This record gives sequence, structure tokens and C-alpha cells, in this order.
Amino acid sequence: MTSTRGMAVTGLGTALPPTVLTNADLEQTLDTSDAWITERTGIRERRVDGSTGELAVQAARAALADAGVEAESVDLLILATETPDALMPATSASVAGELGLRCGSFDLNAACAGFTYGLVIAERLVAGGLDRILLVGSDSMWSITDHDDRNTAVLFGDGAGALVLEATADDSAGVLGWDAGTDGTLGSVLACDIGGTIRMDGQTVFKKAVRVVVESCAAALEKAKLAGDDVDVFAPHQANVRIIDASARRLGIPGDRCAVVLDRTGNTSAGSIPLALADARERGRLHDGAIVLVSGFGAGMTWASAVLRWASQPIP
Ligand code: ACO
Repeated sequence: MTSTRGMAVTGLGTALPPTVLTNADLEQTLDTSDAWITERTGIRERRVDGSTGELAVQAARAALADAGVEAESVDLLILATETPDALMPATSASVAGELGLRCGSFDLNAACAGFTYGLVIAERLVAGGLDRILLVGSDSMWSITDHDDRNTAVLFGDGAGALVLEATADDSAGVLGWDAGTDGTLGSVLACDIGGTIRMDGQTVFKKAVRVVVESCAAALEKAKLAGDDVDVFAPHQANVRIIDASARRLGIPGDRCAVVLDRTGNTSAGSIPLALADARERGRLHDGAIVLVSGFGAGMTWASAVLRWASQPIP
């Protein structure tokens, strides 16, 4: 066991359900328009009718195949989700069963910040001795959305992403700095009761989101002794392109370094950051050594940011 080893992202996989719901489709059922949704959010379509567990299994299988490793070799499964398939057992347990894992597993609910919390926890556990962690973010937000409420129905979709995180002897790889916070007094601005649907005060969430993303990313960058301009890929939570643009501008991150998938996915909560990372990789932007900044915010309200030096190969 050593605390000086780093963490590499050796596998990356994603999953989206097949059913596409476009803004034009929503125009048929809601008092809304493609122009309003695109202009105010950047979203053009989303995927719906998925289940958190199935999407998580698909994304995890893709990530394991990408890493070229067998499921049995995984030391821990972390599933970030706010839409578990059941109150019990934890969705991570059924996902572990489907994948054939016998290692430890747990669900992590930090809403749309869950994936970033998971990444930071994973990095500490790898530093502490675990060799291989499967981190999945999966949510089926459409299942908790009131499909007749134009304030929320245009925003959310289903999706998942997974990373295989492995120990590497390169101790410069992995999380260089992170920050997390919660303001529980804002619980009512974005909430969903058990069996209910999402209630949201969009403007309050918007303003708070920009503020906490900027402050939290700045804190994580400072701990990493880096500035906004050092960031090669900014992969924030995909809620609204205006939140992403405003945050990037204030952090001094050039717009062309932002990873954006929400135009095709909508807000997939814990799935959104790994989906954005996968998109950045497909575009050839996630090279080894790249400085990657991730930042999630959501119901709680809670938030978390992390700066990573990207490495794709474990060094024995
Ligand atoms: N189509 C057409 N008009 C609409 C729609 C719609 N879908 N939704 C709202 N409107 C109307 C409003 O009724 C309002 O009309 P009015 O002026 O006659 O009263 C007008 O559009 C403007 O409404 P605003 O709320 O001021 O619009 P805004 O520019 O703030 O955009 C939005 C609303 C998109 C919800 C924005 O506030 C936002 O993105 N907020 C953040 C939401 C978010 O990120 N939530 C998820 C967080 S992550 C998690 O944990 C799940």
C-alpha cells in the first residue's frame, strides 16, 4: 500500500436509451417551442425511457471492454445516481450482479454532483491501496419528470457513463485538486419526493449554479496550482449551455475547451460528466497529460469540482 501512486482512466463507456425525444416532439404536447428551448438551454433532443440499472450496466460493460479488463478484476463499484431503480436493494448491487462482480459496491446520491464526488472518493481509495475501481454515473431523469410541466420536461433525459480507474506508478496522474460544498438551506429550489416528480425554481438554481461552479472550480484549480487558462478540457455538468458558457468565461477558460453534449442528451444528472468526457475523447481532445476540469452541481444544493491530469495507461 502506498499513498504516492496516481490514478489513470483506463476505460470509458457510455449508454443512452434508444428513444429520442426532440424539441419538435415536445412542441406537440407542451406550450413550448424549439426556438425557446434551444435559445434558453442549448438542448435540441434528449433520450428517454431508460432505466438507471440497465444504462449503468451497458456503460460499465463498454468501459470494461475499453480498458480491456475483466469484470472480476474490479475492486470496487461506485454508482452515482439520484434515480435508483428501487429504495432497496441499492441499484449498485443489481448492477454488480449483472456484471458478475463480487467486490464491494454502493450507491452515491449527490444529485448532479454525484459523479464528481465519486471521482474524488475513488482517487483517495486508489491512493490508499485499491487497484481498480469502476465508477458509474447513471440517471433516468425522465422517470421523475412531470411530462406536462414545460418548466422541467424540456430539460431532463436519461443516460449513463462509466470510467475504469486504475492505480498507476505515475503519481502526477489523477486528481490534482478538488473542492466540494453543500447549501442545505436551498433544498426546496430543486426537489423530488419519493414517488413524485421534480419541482424546480429554475432561476434560483441557475444563479446559484453559476456562482458555485465558478467558486468551486477556482478553489480546485488553486489547490492544483493551476489557472483557468491551463485547462485543456472543461467537462462541467450538462444542465444549460448558458451556465457552462458563463462559468467558463468567468474562470478564463476559452469556449472551445468546453465539452458540451447537452444538445443531444439534455440533463442526465450523474451521467452527464462522463458523457461529456466521452464526447471530448471522441473529438481527440483527451490526450495523456491533458488538464481536465470537471464540476457538478445539483439538488441539495450540492456541488463538487476536480482537476485531473489525464492518463489513460496504468504504469506498473
Ligand atoms: N417553453 C416556453 N416558455 C417557457 C418554458 C418553456 N419550456 N419554460 C418557461 N417558460 C417561460 C416562463 O413561463 C416565463 O414566462 P413569463 O415571462 O411569461 O413568466 C419565461 O419563459 C421566462 O422564464 P424564466 O424562468 O425566466 O426563463 P429562464 O431564462 O430562467 O430559463 C430555465 C429557464 C431554462 C429553467 C433556466 O432558469 C435554467 O436552466 N435553470 C437551471 C435549471 C437546472 O439546471 N436544473 C437542474 C440542476 S441539476 C440537478 O440536480 C437535477
